[in-house]
Amino acid sequence: MNTPDTAGFRLARYTKADQQEILGTGEDPFGVAETGLAWLPKEDHFGIRHDGRLIAHAGLRRLPVTVDGSDLTEVIGVGGVAVAPDVRGHGLARRVIATALAHATTLGPPHALLFCRPPLVPLYERLGWQAIPPETPVRVEQPGDRVITMPLRTMVTPLHEGARWPEGPLRLRSLPM
Ligand SMILES: CC(C)(COP(=O)(O)OP(=O)(O)OC[C@H]1O[C@@H](n2cnc3c(N)ncnc32)[C@H](O)[C@@H]1OP(=O)(O)O)[C@@H](O)C(=O)NCCC(=O)NCCS
Repeated sequence: MNTPDTAGFRLARYTKADQQEILGTGEDPFGVAETGLAWLPKEDHFGIRHDGRLIAHAGLRRLPVTVDGSDLTEVIGVGGVAVAPDVRGHGLARRVIATALAHATTLGPPHALLFCRPPLVPLYERLGWQAIPPETPVRVEQPGDRVITMPLRTMVTPLHEGARWPEGPLRLRSLPM
């Protein structure tokens, strides 16, 4: 396939079948099943289509947070980032995330946040994201009133000029997205 040059756009909805169109029907397409985490669905969805086929997705969800000693109360969570296996390495994740973040800048919170497996940290750094140091505690809620330490890496990026991520332990006041 030639590198698709289609722009990203907002999807009216994003179903399990849409995700399977991109990633196939494998058991663990994001490679995070072993964490056993429960996740929230995303609220806004962005995609790239090529020849009528959905080939990339990124989702957004507003999340309540606290960071010790700061007044930060909300972030825009980014999740469900997916590119079809046969079109990876052509900048489609970059493009669909940029489309999602352009929308995120209109939502109010000063930062976007995502969770990823450690091998993906360099990719997101390349896209301008900053990894929260592994020694900084990141706690998230799970079913049954549990609060656990997030086993994945946490990354943030500013949505507004001059926004600076505060230092200190991060607590997500919800399930992760
Ligand atoms: C992770 C995933 C979305 C990447 O999609 P992709 O379309 O291949 O990514 P891109 O081509 O847009 O690459 C983004 C940038 O990261 C760079 N990059 C890729 N791998 C890298 C690595 N290991 N180290 C550093 N940079 C890397 C690319 O060169 C590109 O930068 P550039 O545009 O300046 O060249 C895709 O592999 C996927 O769907 N994986 C399965 C689902 C998944 O794990 N999603 C992530 C959930 S957090």
